[in-house]
Amino acid sequence: MKLKMLIPLLSAAVVCGCGPKSEPTPQKSHPSFLELASARFSVRYYDTKPVEQEKLDAILAAARVAPTAKNLQPYHIFVFKSEAAIKKVNELTRCAYSAPVVFLVCYDKTKAWQNPFDANDNSGVMDASIVGTHMMLEAFDQGLGSCWVKYFDPKAIAAAFELPENLTPSFMLDVGYPAPGVAPSPMHSAKREAEELVTYR
Ligand SMILES: Cc1cc2nc3c(=O)[nH]c(=O)nc-3n(C[C@H](O)[C@H](O)[C@H](O)COP(=O)(O)O)c2cc1C
Repeated sequence: MKLKMLIPLLSAAVVCGCGPKSEPTPQKSHPSFLELASARFSVRYYDTKPVEQEKLDAILAAARVAPTAKNLQPYHIFVFKSEAAIKKVNELTRCAYSAPVVFLVCYDKTKAWQNPFDANDNSGVMDASIVGTHMMLEAFDQGLGSCWVKYFDPKAIAAAFELPENLTPSFMLDVGYPAPGVAPSPMHSAKREAEELVTYR
């Protein structure tokens, strides 16, 4: 039955008080956020299967809904997926791992929020990182593997891809279908004790 058809029936039930006294607990059909975030791991071996455009669109949509300081959205995303771009990026870092798609997330220092209390602090890196976190988790939700990459020379990347002056490369996100049998590295589960990381005051 369509939702539109159900609404009058449900409102009538509420008005006459003959509806169910308590709603049955809905069964969860999707993982919780914590389940999804815990199951994601860095993938460093990729299948050659290309990533569908709809999946790339979903990753970019997740980037778009990320919050940024004062909603200034001071980032720009390059999607490297042509043979030439992938070849170039693999020459510039050993951490592209031959993924079929590599996103380069940059921030624009002229558009980022400037902290009025600290001349050396703007929101660029933070905004880009929240965008990247959305992308990484959306990629996983789409059944794709990813790896966040900082191991590259930002100046060399900027020169090789002729980036505009105002853009600073922040990080890359390799994305693709994981190669068969890929498993989390030992780093995935090596967590410091919570007491070392969290303090209640
Ligand atoms: C800021 C940042 C930079 C990273 N840079 C690299 C990198 O350059 N190369 C790489 O292979 N992994 C890189 N990683 C992935 C981390 O090594 C990985 O996330 C961490 O060991 C935890 O493992 P997991 O992602 O499997 O849970 C980076 C992750 C973050 C958050």
